[in-house]
Amino acid sequence: MAETHKNAPAPEGQPHRGSAGINGKAYEFTDHTFDVVVVGAGGAGLRATLGAAQAGLKTACITKVFPTRSHTVAAQGGVAASLGNMGKDDWRWHMYDTVKGSDWLGDQDAIEYLVREAPAAVYELEHFGVPFSRTEDGKIYQRPFGGMTTDFGNGPAAQRTCAAADRTGHAILHTLYGQSLRHSSEFFIEYFAIDLIMDEEGACRGVVALCLDDGTLHRFRAKKTILATGGYGRAYFSATSAHTCTGDGNAMVLRAGLPLQDMEFVQFHPTGIYGAGCLITEGARGEGGYLTNSEGERFMERYAPSAKDLASRDVVSRAMTMEIRDGRGVGKKNDHIFLHLDHLDPAILHERLPGISESAKIFAGVDVTKEPIPVLPTVHYNMGGIPTNYHGEVLTKKDGNPDTVVPGLMAVGEAACVSVHGANRLGSNSLIDLVVFGRAAGLRCIDTVTVGEGHAPLPAGAGENSLARLDRFRYAKGSTSTAELRDRMQQTMQSNCAVFRTGEVLEEGHQKIHQVWQASDDVKTTDRSLIWNTDLVETLEYDNLIAQAVVTMDSALARQESRGAHAREDFPDRDDANWMKHTLSFCDVAAKTVTLEDRPVHTYTLSNEIEYIQPKKRVY
Ligand code: FUM
Repeated sequence: MAETHKNAPAPEGQPHRGSAGINGKAYEFTDHTFDVVVVGAGGAGLRATLGAAQAGLKTACITKVFPTRSHTVAAQGGVAASLGNMGKDDWRWHMYDTVKGSDWLGDQDAIEYLVREAPAAVYELEHFGVPFSRTEDGKIYQRPFGGMTTDFGNGPAAQRTCAAADRTGHAILHTLYGQSLRHSSEFFIEYFAIDLIMDEEGACRGVVALCLDDGTLHRFRAKKTILATGGYGRAYFSATSAHTCTGDGNAMVLRAGLPLQDMEFVQFHPTGIYGAGCLITEGARGEGGYLTNSEGERFMERYAPSAKDLASRDVVSRAMTMEIRDGRGVGKKNDHIFLHLDHLDPAILHERLPGISESAKIFAGVDVTKEPIPVLPTVHYNMGGIPTNYHGEVLTKKDGNPDTVVPGLMAVGEAACVSVHGANRLGSNSLIDLVVFGRAAGLRCIDTVTVGEGHAPLPAGAGENSLARLDRFRYAKGSTSTAELRDRMQQTMQSNCAVFRTGEVLEEGHQKIHQVWQASDDVKTTDRSLIWNTDLVETLEYDNLIAQAVVTMDSALARQESRGAHAREDFPDRDDANWMKHTLSFCDVAAKTVTLEDRPVHTYTLSNEIEYIQPKKRVY
């Protein structure tokens, strides 16, 4: 395959048109030069964009959907911060809960950074204009959420989750988009990022993207490229995630020869609507909702006598699965559980849970004031992702150093694994992660990028990998449709990498998912155009998903213990002696092989204002 690249490097400033040939076909592309390019416009991407632009850095944000359609819009229950508006609270208690929730896989320096910065980040959102719900005396309203306690787990549940009714993500996303527009950031909307531009030294120099609207190709040169591309929930059949959650940045990182971290840890949210998968916020249980089985029993009292329905999500999801397995599920097939809100005051439901009341009506035909909602644990969040430090800088393992910074590349939000969530994220710690680390990434850019300084030269043939990838799928002439491959992948992940796992089931999953990966070479596309080619985009997204599905399955098979969301029935205990370490998964996409390595957990805090929280057995 002859590949020629005829364009000159992009001049500083103005976009510049060049052309490149792949497979004898000419592709034209436009060059852009920025200090900072953010890929993704969810909460983390917008907060990073805002921070960099505010400081005068020439900043672009590339997004495959209109910013306010990013998946952050679907976040419901709230954003965690120890404001103490509804009772005494302390960032140290928030830290303790987060470490315990992570089942001691979280990095405690990063967790300290998160919880200490959280109150200021929420007040900043308030000042930006987020319409938080209010207490009688006008303070930000805070509700209880799973795993959030007081006094290092010794006190009652903490009311720590700051809420804008049950549309908190929606409120934050719209506010941050408005704020980003106030500053001179440039948005490239409905541009699909194809691949990173990496140089010979392993530094990132930017990214190539396809404009979906007119089919033009764009090469973005940047001193810092920040991946804020979200999770990959759509590797599974049933997920609360939007169909756009295909982990595009994670896959770009794998293709660049860099690792993903802790991919075996996939969170199931206890209350996805049965059949539809849409989220019913944990805030519903925070406001007093409870789960029952076919005998009408509030079974969480047996599994978690203290926290009950507000135990952490891994615990509640496992308890629900066990009830169903033991024949106590509800419905004609005894295959789901009921969530009751019908005992709550309709006025409270209207004021605090209007969104889920509407979703329950639309997707389950249920009037929440009168009937329970049928629910089932549903894939919700990926604890794993691109390893970073708490500044948002991407890390790799090089010459034995597992904390080697990859120059020019950063990651934030669900795409990143900082790792503050470890083996299991607490509800409402995601929105705070987005804004705290989105801000931190902006600050790091300010510290490390000099306005007006020239760019390092682009490597020869910069962007050709993207063109080759695009061209391969555009003209794919195999015999298997993308939809068929995607369905096989999703069914395999759903059945073989679920809430409960065994070596046998994972081994079968490993065989099956590798077969799907191999079969992907036979993919067939039919639309050869470049204008709004959804056939092509879905195939690029599938290609992104399958690589992440494979490393998820292989990492899950390798980890022989139970920790957080990774529940191995054949290894029921947490094994700190052998497994208190992060999994790093590298992938050779051409050879279709996976290599697993590990990275130590940071067993130290950031300051001496709190000591390292020693591992202990979890009691619920
Ligand atoms: O249940 C929820 O409202 C989800 C919140 C979260 O995942 O943080």
